[in-house]
Amino acid sequence: MRTPLVLGNWKMHGSQAFARALAEAVRARAEAFPGVELGVCPPYVMLPIVAKALDGSRVALGAQNVSEFGEGAYTGEISAGMLKDLGCTHVLVGHFERRQIFAESPVQVVQKLVAAHTAGLVPVLCVGETLAERQAGTTSRVIEAQLQPLLGHPEAAALLVGAIIAYEPVWAIGTGETASPAQAQAVHQDIRKLVAGRAPEAARSLRILYGGSVKPGNATELFAMPDIDGGLIGGAALKAEDFCAIAEAAASKRS
Ligand code: 13P
Repeated sequence: MRTPLVLGNWKMHGSQAFARALAEAVRARAEAFPGVELGVCPPYVMLPIVAKALDGSRVALGAQNVSEFGEGAYTGEISAGMLKDLGCTHVLVGHFERRQIFAESPVQVVQKLVAAHTAGLVPVLCVGETLAERQAGTTSRVIEAQLQPLLGHPEAAALLVGAIIAYEPVWAIGTGETASPAQAQAVHQDIRKLVAGRAPEAARSLRILYGGSVKPGNATELFAMPDIDGGLIGGAALKAEDFCAIAEAAASKRS
């Protein structure tokens, strides 16, 4: 049995006061969902304030990005060790917005995953196809290509232990359009099979999150799918009430 995980990606939103209030509101509600792991990924500069607000709670702290480098003259970058030092346990790597807007390559994404793993952080590797790719019927090929640098890595089996994959169809991110439970399940099942080809043990325990316009109203049916182990939540994570309603939907998966 895989413990469901609901992770909020706050993206580039808010202020210190907003971050503190949101973290405190999530914390206050989190005790109601003991069977679900919860976490939030605020912007870098808000990590200390959110770490303080969550201190001693069961809500995990994650970052939205990490440098592939350990230390040195990399102006503007943040290392995995720095994130760990701030109290982070999780970090997103290869979010679609990083790949598209900031031109992160598949190889660079895996370097970031390795850096996170080496520092003892749980990497959350994001993959997903565009609308054009889905319409062209190439979804599984695209996902496979995005996973290939990881699956082809000499240390793949070790890197996959404890790692998390998030399937986020690009056409569903921030659009209000969600993959149907069947569409999402098909891709999640594919991902698990691909991972099983390389690391069968890790594949069984691998948590695969769905992301892309998850809301309180659609979370239950998505999370009911056998290979959907929780969600990576964007817009709805900015409201504690909605985020926690999604956590409640994940709790119902367990019971
Ligand atoms: P939305 O939930 O706003 O569609 O964002 C999804 C996402 O990109 C989470 O990483």
